[in-house]
Amino acid sequence: MLIETKGLSKFYKHKDGIVEAIKDINLGFNQGDFVTITGPSGSGKTTLLLLLAGLLRPTAGSIKFQKHELHSASDNVLAGIRSKHIGFVMQNFSLIPYLSVLNNVLIPLSLNQNGERTKSDYAIHLLETVGLKDRMNHLPKELSAGQQQRVAIARALVNKPNLILADEPTGNLDPALSIEILEVLKRINIENQITIAMVTHSPTASKYGNIRIHIDKGSIVN
Ligand SMILES: Nc1ncnc2c1ncn2[C@@H]1O[C@H](COP(=O)(O)OP(=O)(O)OP(=O)(O)O)[C@@H](O)[C@H]1O
Ligand SMILES: [Mg+2]
Repeated sequence: MLIETKGLSKFYKHKDGIVEAIKDINLGFNQGDFVTITGPSGSGKTTLLLLLAGLLRPTAGSIKFQKHELHSASDNVLAGIRSKHIGFVMQNFSLIPYLSVLNNVLIPLSLNQNGERTKSDYAIHLLETVGLKDRMNHLPKELSAGQQQRVAIARALVNKPNLILADEPTGNLDPALSIEILEVLKRINIENQITIAMVTHSPTASKYGNIRIHIDKGSIVN
């Protein structure tokens, strides 16, 4: 099992009271799974992804990633696990506007402990995979929305992660571009056996999952 949670809960403390964002979630994904997470706005989907990434500490319960116990790991260990094993694709692309496409893809590598930025051959290969090799010297604003999202996918892959966490990666795209992005994710999932956990509001997108999770008010419902 790549990632497994037991009794996972996250409550946010707020001056107006406690928000029970995630309640007692038990799940497990294997290497190569394509997991889709659906649910109403405010149901806890983003919170769940942030917990799986080790970016949020659970209020209760455990998260195991490979052999690492994320819930009790130090911040340094968590940062190391993220930079080695996890890639992120978020809804708003979060590309750096003044960096070229290629340099945007290289960002996760510059954060690597080894300080390596020499893997540009691999970054170029990834840009080829997402159909944007001829655009590597362009700026993000010179690309369409779908192309920018494909750059974000290449960036999420550059550290050769085991797991990609995607929060509504097609949320800002029209149906045709959404299919394009979903097909890229599916190909990566099948060819490289990278596990994908993707939050989506779209019924079409959720069909891409071999595991489909629906959450409501912080709990998994069927
Ligand atoms: N930092 C925070 N402090 C307090 N409450 C929060 C915080 N972040 C999220 N929440 C609350 O936790 C609940 C779950 O939020 P979350 O962002 O996980 O929902 P979501 O399913 O991703 O929603 P959406 O589909 O709108 O993105 C919501 O009620 C939200 O208001
Ligand atoms: Mg969200």
